[in-house]
Amino acid sequence: MIIAIDGPAAAGKGTLGRALAARFELAYLDTGRLYRATGLAVLNSGGDPTDPKAAEAAARALDPATLGDPDLRREAAGVAASQVAAQPAVRAALLDFQRHFAHHPPDGAKGAVLDGRDIGTVVCPDAPIKLFVTASVEARARRRFKELLDSGQEVVESTILADLKARDARDAERDTAPMKPAEDALVIDTTELGADEVLARVVSHVLAAR
Ligand code: C5P
Repeated sequence: MIIAIDGPAAAGKGTLGRALAARFELAYLDTGRLYRATGLAVLNSGGDPTDPKAAEAAARALDPATLGDPDLRREAAGVAASQVAAQPAVRAALLDFQRHFAHHPPDGAKGAVLDGRDIGTVVCPDAPIKLFVTASVEARARRRFKELLDSGQEVVESTILADLKARDARDAERDTAPMKPAEDALVIDTTELGADEVLARVVSHVLAAR
């Protein structure tokens, strides 16, 4: 089984993805981490994430062992991620890893849950379950603000809101693999829903589709 989850930042994709993976014994991949690690590698080497050569080289050199780096959650890594993600060569370099994970999940898992922006449209267009998880930008900024504050980072809510708006626009308007719901995706707006309610709805949807 492959479950594809797409949607904008801080809409609840990760929480849902991990819960679904546990519920159905699937492996989970947060594909944003691939783009974050690429963006962060460029920043750490003193480069510019909007420079196509630097970004492609970083994507090709990506070491999956670095995907657990806590620095990947920093807002600067998110911004750099969306800059490298707009470049077709970067997306092409990261595609095989994602498809391999989906079709050959690690540790004997029965399938995989992938979350990102183009999983249902580009990475796994044949996934039997596709979800597009979204929420108002204000609700998402509030959640991301709390999350970063709880992890000890110094953040300003208005900066987070502005970053999310810029990132949404860049992700939705880029030419290659723009963020959008697949035609057959179930769209879930989590603005007024708790994580448990979202999970319950999706579990019923998955069981009905099997
Ligand atoms: O999901 P997350 O906020 O960690 O993703 C960071 C950035 O990586 C996104 O803003 C987006 O530009 C990019 N991304 C992407 N395609 C994916 C996953 C993430 O373009 N499948």
